[in-house]
Amino acid sequence: RIAYVNGRYVPLRQAAVHVEDRGYQFADGVYEVCEVDGGRLIDERRHMDRLERSLKELRIAMPMSRVALGAVLRETVRRNRVGHGLVYLQVTRGVAPRNHLFPSPAVLPAIVVTARSSDAAAAERRAEAGVGVITVPENRWARVDIKTVSLLPNVLAKQAAKEAGAYEAWFVDADGRVTEGGSTNAWIVTADGALVTRPAEEGILRGITRTVLFDLAAEEGLKIEERAFTVEEAKAAREAFITAATAVVMPVVRIDEVPLGNGAPGSIATRLRSRFHDVAE
Ligand code: PDD
Repeated sequence: RIAYVNGRYVPLRQAAVHVEDRGYQFADGVYEVCEVDGGRLIDERRHMDRLERSLKELRIAMPMSRVALGAVLRETVRRNRVGHGLVYLQVTRGVAPRNHLFPSPAVLPAIVVTARSSDAAAAERRAEAGVGVITVPENRWARVDIKTVSLLPNVLAKQAAKEAGAYEAWFVDADGRVTEGGSTNAWIVTADGALVTRPAEEGILRGITRTVLFDLAAEEGLKIEERAFTVEEAKAAREAFITAATAVVMPVVRIDEVPLGNGAPGSIATRLRSRFHDVAE
């Protein structure tokens, strides 16, 4: 496998960043994960928009133009012969002697891109079975709208999910309402077939998959209620599912050991999953 590191394509085993990279020392950086399907980057424009926004919020400069960055992403996909998989992009504030303050004068941001194939058939099997989620108290900082590499609460929550035999952990706020998953957005389907997902302004990441689903729902004639929902409401819901570039639309069949409905993936989640790539750019 080949990685792009600060201007060079290098074998992954030799790809390394400096020990004083601020991403390493302070998690002072941002990332994007973009799905590759049919050799194409899915929703590249929206991922670039979000990257620019994340960088702006942290006052890190774009490491290169969008056009150049797009070329690097595609070249990394090509060099790794990824037909179906993921491309990962990380930008940190750069390398400087350890000091919390921004380097002054500013240093060049450090950029890393990797790409890897994923097993589409295994993902389909997972979607046909559906996944379980656990719930954990929300303990992240207030700026989860920024896609930073500072993911320790997410790491711990997802590991707890794994150890409980589940695929994802849903963070739950102080009012008992689900915010989002450790690396996915959370959705439920009401008895009358409306999709419910938390407003993007209320302590979640504005997922690209989530945004595309608004378009898909409109095409499918499904109503979306953009509001928070409680864990109890989710456990009594007709269906639930999660969305992310890494999961597309993944049906949830269990929440904290409670099976949803008949315990099988819901028809609406399954339909949305099958139609996602018709709508995504
Ligand atoms: N995670 N919420 C969180 C906390 C996420 O980390 C992600 C994505 C999402 C979904 O966003 P999108 O639909 O744009 O992928 C929601 C990536 C895939 C990851 O960390 O691997």
